[in-house]
Amino acid sequence: MPILDIATLDGRAVLAPMAGISDPAFRLLCRRHGAAMVWSEMLSAEALARHHGKTLRMAAFRPAERPVALQLFGTRPQAFADGIAQLEALNPDCYDLNFGCPAPKIVKHGGGSALLRDPGAIAAIATAAVRATARPVLAKIRSGWEVGSENAVEIARLLEQCGVAAITVHGRTRAQMFAGTADWGVIAGVKRAVGIPVIGNGDIWSGGDARRMIEATGCDLVMAGRGALGNPWLFAEINACLGGAAAPPPVPWSGKLAVIREHFALMAADKGESRAIREMRKHLGWYIKGIEGAAHARRDIMTATTQEQVFALLRRLTDQRPS
Ligand SMILES: Cc1cc2nc3c(=O)[nH]c(=O)nc-3n(C[C@H](O)[C@H](O)[C@H](O)COP(=O)(O)O)c2cc1C
Repeated sequence: MPILDIATLDGRAVLAPMAGISDPAFRLLCRRHGAAMVWSEMLSAEALARHHGKTLRMAAFRPAERPVALQLFGTRPQAFADGIAQLEALNPDCYDLNFGCPAPKIVKHGGGSALLRDPGAIAAIATAAVRATARPVLAKIRSGWEVGSENAVEIARLLEQCGVAAITVHGRTRAQMFAGTADWGVIAGVKRAVGIPVIGNGDIWSGGDARRMIEATGCDLVMAGRGALGNPWLFAEINACLGGAAAPPPVPWSGKLAVIREHFALMAADKGESRAIREMRKHLGWYIKGIEGAAHARRDIMTATTQEQVFALLRRLTDQRPS
């Protein structure tokens, strides 16, 4: 069974799968700024198995994003196998199975983190997925369903037996959603229990956090999600910190603006300008956080309808606080 060859990656910090965020544009930006690997948004195995055009288009990526993991969610083992068969032509570097999503719309159908309550179902999905492809199949889990029923170690061992190539552990239960702090002890426990690579996830906001997580858990890679929102530079900071170098200086607003332009252009090329304007709004909110005048500008940005209007508002922020 192929395992994830982490020795071939150029770094130890990777971008988390984030629905509505980790699209090709954001993934490419994060790769350019030092992410060693990127995950797609979660893709419905059922939709892929039905050859659903929009879902297949969501799976597309640019060669420069590699290595890319395409993540699937669902409940039916055969849908995962059929979904993977649909994705093979894209030649992804690996696949990832979502056993961690806490969102009610996924959990109420028995998918994502709901599967943590049913190890047999997880084994059936992982076995079907591993049989469906010669590429590495990874899995992403939470610490368990709720406090008192944390079973990440048991699930990780099972996944390893099923031929899974690496496991990402988010140190929160489903019940916690995103509240409180992640329990990195669970990541350490999984690392001790399995021989395949373990990717630690939860609350990496800085290079120092990444170093501390690796020291505390022994994990092979660190995965950052929310910390990268409006901050693709996080990966360069982590790489510097893990390499023993000084943290890069804060990015001046002019530098941020250049990256925002790039982000916008990549997204507009993929999705068209009007959709890019709508989808960029949340990213812009994160990019301008902490900049003088941001609160006021945010309101206008949320209602701007053309690229010119958006950049006029952003340039005004520059004027207020020259870099
Ligand atoms: C907006 C958003 C969307 C997410 N979508 C997914 C997803 O599609 N698949 C998945 O496995 N995890 C998803 N996650 C969870 C993240 O991958 C990650 O496990 C979580 O945010 C904890 O990491 P962090 O503390 O670095 O953010 C999502 C998280 C956020 C904030």
